Amino acid sequence: MSEGLNKVYEFLLAAGTYYLATVEGDQPRVRPFGTVLLRDGKLYIQTGKVKPVSHQLAANPKAEICAFMGGKWLRVAGELINDDDRNAKVAMLEKMPALKSMYSPDDDNTQVLYFQNATATFSSFTEAPETFSF
Ligand SMILES: Cc1cc2nc3c(=O)[nH]c(=O)nc-3n(C[C@H](O)[C@H](O)[C@H](O)COP(=O)(O)O)c2cc1C
Repeated sequence: MSEGLNKVYEFLLAAGTYYLATVEGDQPRVRPFGTVLLRDGKLYIQTGKVKPVSHQLAANPKAEICAFMGGKWLRVAGELINDDDRNAKVAMLEKMPALKSMYSPDDDNTQVLYFQNATATFSSFTEAPETFSF
């Protein structure tokens, strides 16, 4: 597993909240997210298929997330790819147990997506940017 991917995962977990940007036509859309899972060398997030964010990603998988913590910010730009593997949904619900009151692996709503063609950049006002691809 790449060192960069681990670093991104740990940062997102520690930050707790990140902001997910999608596109709808020519309009950017952004909202707070918190779900994150590292599985099979892929960085996953979770949403509900009924949400506008899910519809936007189905039409255009290009997405970017941003999190800020301790004077550093992280941006991950790439494509978010749907994964209907039940095991991936189970793993997400185990990693983020608070989801279990709203979602189950078999509810036809739970959706997990992983980053593909991703570029992650850590930035700060004091250090040179650090970039990883996965
Ligand atoms: C701190 C925080 C974390 C959140 N994490 C998630 C998440 O991981 N997945 C999700 O689908 N919604 C999450 N939400 C709720 C979404 O922000 C909310 O449903 C939003 O309206 C979805 O965007 P949309 O309306 O464009 O579909 C979170 C909300 C907050 C306040």
